[in-house]
Amino acid sequence: MTSPLHRRRFISAAATTGAAAFLTRTTAAEKSVAKTPMAKASAEWPLWDASEETALLDALHSGKWGRTSRGRHLLAFETAFARQMRAKHCIAVSSGTTALLTALGALGIGPGDEVILSTYTFVATFNAITNSYALPRFVDSDAATFQIDPTKIAAAITPQTRLLLPVHIGGSPADMTAINAVGKARSIPVIEDACQAPLAELDGQPVGTIGLGGCFSFQASKNMTAGEGGAVLTNDEAFANLCFNFHTPGGGKPGPSLGRGANYRLTEFQAALLTTQLVRLIEHAKRRDANAAYLTEMLRKVPGITPARLVPGCTRSGWHLYMLRYDSQQFAGLSRARFLEELSKAGISASSGYTSLNRMRHVQALATNPHYLRLYGKETMTRWADVNQCPVNDKLCEEAVWFSQTKLLGTRAEMERVVEAAASIQKRAGDLQRNEKTARGA
Ligand SMILES: Cc1ncc(COP(=O)(O)O)c(C=O)c1O
Repeated sequence: MTSPLHRRRFISAAATTGAAAFLTRTTAAEKSVAKTPMAKASAEWPLWDASEETALLDALHSGKWGRTSRGRHLLAFETAFARQMRAKHCIAVSSGTTALLTALGALGIGPGDEVILSTYTFVATFNAITNSYALPRFVDSDAATFQIDPTKIAAAITPQTRLLLPVHIGGSPADMTAINAVGKARSIPVIEDACQAPLAELDGQPVGTIGLGGCFSFQASKNMTAGEGGAVLTNDEAFANLCFNFHTPGGGKPGPSLGRGANYRLTEFQAALLTTQLVRLIEHAKRRDANAAYLTEMLRKVPGITPARLVPGCTRSGWHLYMLRYDSQQFAGLSRARFLEELSKAGISASSGYTSLNRMRHVQALATNPHYLRLYGKETMTRWADVNQCPVNDKLCEEAVWFSQTKLLGTRAEMERVVEAAASIQKRAGDLQRNEKTARGA
């Protein structure tokens, strides 16, 4: 089973095979769809061409390599990303994690505070909370959408709850309408972990601008990337100023002093790359949208394969992952691991996705972390471990299957091959399952 910490290895491997397959199999007709973004690419994700080269050299030759040198690429990227995402303010930072740390730092989240988060997420969401010495509180997932179940948030709120931190997992929006309503009723701010979700929208509004602010990652596996990088978006000027001041010592924007801060600045080189990657992302998104819609329509016809549903009001997914549930009962009891192996034999890379975050050793270790024991006491930390039960998410983690975003850059014919492979496995499932049992000695 792929653990969250191994997710990037999967994405990188999938990217390699997906992008390589795409590049080698592109026909003339497909090239006309591909246009600019595929001009030159390594066999691995990311894809890049002369525009990235030019941008990098421009940053190099400018001699202004960082925020403090007042180069033009950081400002250009912040302006372009804010405009694209229809946000008033963008603060570029060094990663998605530091975007989250900046948002939490700007809000003054710290020891004694509780932060509610999605359970179906990458461990970094949890880390941002614990690096702020706040207490993470997991809320169970909605099996149909893979997103946080908004109906379960209210019950997780305590007098110490200072923040709701939903994740737009897979690049698809969480139900921000319902989540914002809970936050508003209890006067608790909402920060969106939109690390996987640039370009995703709810009712036409880009994610990351629906709560108080949104955090984005441009790490190497992301749909737009500079190897590492991140951003905070917001429409709230006071919050934007606090974030700016938190992410760079001596920030200088108006607002109260925090007494805390860091250097989480992005470099001019990364910003230069990201401005060109944003253009590429927009081009790629059309293909990901079309392929995801086609794949969903066709996969629905395979009993036992249930693509993740988009939440009500979702007008666009960022399609960082294509997620579905696999019901082994509809495949004669064939295990998910064997299903994935058979897909792989058919040349289709897929993964089992996250394991239960709240059950990870890394997460469970918080209950005995000496700082947490000192801050919160043994009783609270023991209760913390007990209270974090997410049975729906546990089942989801056993059933999930992911295709990486690079798969969605393939051709329509490649989408059809995915469905044909799944249907073929289903036809052979009885035999495969018997072989599986024999191999296990059952
Ligand atoms: C949902 C989610 N949150 C946070 C992060 C952290 O981003 P980064 O790796 O850029 O620190 C990631 C990145 O993988 C992510 O997928």
